[in-house]
Amino acid sequence: MIDPITRPTSAPSRVPGPRGFPLLGNLFDLREGLFHEVLLRMHQEHGDLFRLRFPGGRDAYVVRDPEVLRHVLQMNNGNYVKGARMQIAAPLIGNGLFLSEGAFWRRQRRLLQPAFVRPSIALLVDTMVQTVQEMLDRWQIHAGTGQPLNIQDEMMRLAMEVVTRTLFTNSLTPEEVREVGEQFTFLLEVISERGQEIVPISHRLPSRRNRRFRQALERIDRLIYRLIEDRRRSGEYGTDLLGKLLQARDQETGQGMDDRQLRDELVTLFLAGHETTAITLTWALGMLSTHPAVRRRLQAEVDMVLDGRRPTAPDLDRLTYTRAVFSETLRIYPPLPVFMRESVGPDELAGIPIGPGETLLIHVYGVHHHEGYWDNPEGFEPERFLPGGRGPGHRFAYIPFGAGPRQCIGNHFALAEGTLALAMIHQRYVLNLTPGAKLEVDAVGTLRPKGGLWVHIQGR
Ligand code: HEM
Repeated sequence: MIDPITRPTSAPSRVPGPRGFPLLGNLFDLREGLFHEVLLRMHQEHGDLFRLRFPGGRDAYVVRDPEVLRHVLQMNNGNYVKGARMQIAAPLIGNGLFLSEGAFWRRQRRLLQPAFVRPSIALLVDTMVQTVQEMLDRWQIHAGTGQPLNIQDEMMRLAMEVVTRTLFTNSLTPEEVREVGEQFTFLLEVISERGQEIVPISHRLPSRRNRRFRQALERIDRLIYRLIEDRRRSGEYGTDLLGKLLQARDQETGQGMDDRQLRDELVTLFLAGHETTAITLTWALGMLSTHPAVRRRLQAEVDMVLDGRRPTAPDLDRLTYTRAVFSETLRIYPPLPVFMRESVGPDELAGIPIGPGETLLIHVYGVHHHEGYWDNPEGFEPERFLPGGRGPGHRFAYIPFGAGPRQCIGNHFALAEGTLALAMIHQRYVLNLTPGAKLEVDAVGTLRPKGGLWVHIQGR
């Protein structure tokens, strides 16, 4: 979420950065393009750590120096929290893993972690494969007709179905899944609007939009509490993620989660778990249709490894090139191009003293496109992620899932889903962008393609 405005700062004046104007700060510079691209240009002029001024005399440090990233996200991570401004998402995701802090976050992370380690994800592969298969069957009527399909919508639906089924198996009816999806899309839209306000005020107003927001939230809550209650009452917890979370116990205290906390974690996982994966898959399909040699190599791998059958968990380790395509897409188009931290106490970053309460913008896109750490950073070259490939020039130059203790808990989940979907789609179909379609980035929130991505589908 690009939401960088915080409190007034006392940043020392020798910190490099664009000059800007009193009160307005760098507002005009920021209007000159997409946020992450403007920041990339600013890095070229002002270095890997610079100060950005927001209207109202508020500043942020923009960081893409891998050593500083290591320090902030790992070595001294205790000094950096998500910050007050991120709380804008709290009405929706509550005190779930994404927002919680300190000892409470640590306890929750310990409780949830076992469900997301690689062996646990392997158990979800069949559900993922079945969901992809149903999508591919649906596509059959489009194949060869010349009728264009918006692949972004398809990937959103796929990722939403995967996350719903892995969380709740079939406890939700297809209508409920669709409704949940719609309510979440609306709720996220409102949260994102609120995040872009310079003075956050709209959530306090008695507007129709806010009333609808509350109603959507109530609808989601009712549904989730019903699922939790049904399982508790029946005593049959099931083997899906909800079942695992219901049975999770803290190793030290033996305690599980109460209903409110379960709700917060489920909503967090649902939200964090689908849009990012869907967007990456959309970009990957776009890149494959514009890079025929890469596509041929992926098809060849899929044909060789799968030989016409459905993938299973052990295939994930064999589909190395397919996975590399997904990883390279995450480098070029990280779904979260920028995320935030706020300092708790004083610190020093690359020789610059940092006071408490300062905002840092972790510039994922910036470090992924850093010429000092990547050969040909603008080129789409999946082979850099093959075993023995050139990879990043620094461990912290590749952070699509963040890094350190707060690294994305769903990274194995996303990589499995992404690899399986790419493999199965290319096993059966060839996707080509419709004539005139371009791969352009949309301006808001997560890094998604503008106007969706329209393709023609043909059988292989
Ligand atoms: C390509 C897909 C994904 C990307 C790029 C992504 C990216 C990220 C990033 C950058 C963070 C760290 C944010 C920060 O440090 O402030 C994060 C955290 C998180 N992600 Fe993901 N994510 C993806 C998929 C998923 C999936 C599939 C799930 C769950 C099913 C998930 C659940 C979470 C949760 C719960 C957190 C908070 C972890 C914590 O603070 O302990 N994500 N994600």
